[in-house]
Amino acid sequence: MTSPLSSTNASPSFALKDFMQLCQQRIQATLSTHLEALPPSAIGLRSAMQYASLQGGKRVRPLLVYAAAQALGEDLAKADFAASAVELVHCYSLVHDDLPAMDDDVLRRGIPTVHIAFNEATAILAGDALLSLAFRLLSDPQHLGVSDGTSLRMVNLLATASGYEGMVAGQSIDFDAMGHTLTLEQLENMHSLKTGALISASVQLGALCTERATAAQLAALQQYSRCIGLAFQVQDDILDVISDTATLGKTQGADQALNKPTYVSLLGLEGATRKARELCDAAVDALRDFDTHADALRQVALYIVERKS
Ligand code: IPE
Ligand code: IPE
Ligand code: MG
Ligand code: MG
Ligand code: MG
Repeated sequence: MTSPLSSTNASPSFALKDFMQLCQQRIQATLSTHLEALPPSAIGLRSAMQYASLQGGKRVRPLLVYAAAQALGEDLAKADFAASAVELVHCYSLVHDDLPAMDDDVLRRGIPTVHIAFNEATAILAGDALLSLAFRLLSDPQHLGVSDGTSLRMVNLLATASGYEGMVAGQSIDFDAMGHTLTLEQLENMHSLKTGALISASVQLGALCTERATAAQLAALQQYSRCIGLAFQVQDDILDVISDTATLGKTQGADQALNKPTYVSLLGLEGATRKARELCDAAVDALRDFDTHADALRQVALYIVERKS
């Protein structure tokens, strides 16, 4: 099968590397500013929040927010707040995911996890505060530059994707599944919730903040984002097996050590790789009616299944 990009209208001149760098710079600057602006009422907590959110990470979710906004011809600046909100939710989820009561990991983004560098109580509170900050940013229509109605819709979307109907439910299923075998359907449901929901929300938020997406465009983007959301976690499972700790910036082999059901444990490496590829192709196909403004989205789909960390 040919690469999905070779069969689309992706412009060969579009350089994802440069676009990623630009998005990473934007998100770093926006998050630093907001965290720095927090009053020094609990300086240790603020340090932990900064530690958890300003030290590396691929920034894939902000990248998707920006790429979706760009697909609809919007300036990247309009997407800064939505990109920050979704990355803050993601950072909080990582801090809690690494806690001893959850995956009990000591390394994240190449440095000690928050509960190791600070302590468990601070890690729990830093996660809580990052989540709250995300919604404070997203509910500030003045900064977002969108109508109150759109702002409310975006808050609702992120809340749904983050909580019981999304990421937190996925984490709960993941926790309960430790040591058990899941069916493929159960595994897909878990992955779609714990990782897919937030990735999907990133694309939708990027589209919503433009206030110019048609219902058909939103539906196509939803189809795209569901595929890459699942593909992202499939590749995460693959990398846990084939990569190494230095490249990942987190402990390699952690899934196997905790006896977690993953795509690799269920389908084998080859089967999981095939699944990720199929999802990437389906994602790109969902964008067939978009012009070259959507090339970033097309290339991110490929990046997600080819990434090494
Ligand atoms: C890791 O996410 C957790 C998953 C949902 C698989 P990322 O791989 O996006 O982690 P960072 O943000 O780059 O550190
Ligand atoms: C985490 O999944 C998903 C989250 C909601 C944080 P993993 O537990 O597989 O993520 P890593 O491998 O620790 O980054
Ligand atoms: Mg986990
Ligand atoms: Mg984990
Ligand atoms: Mg993992």
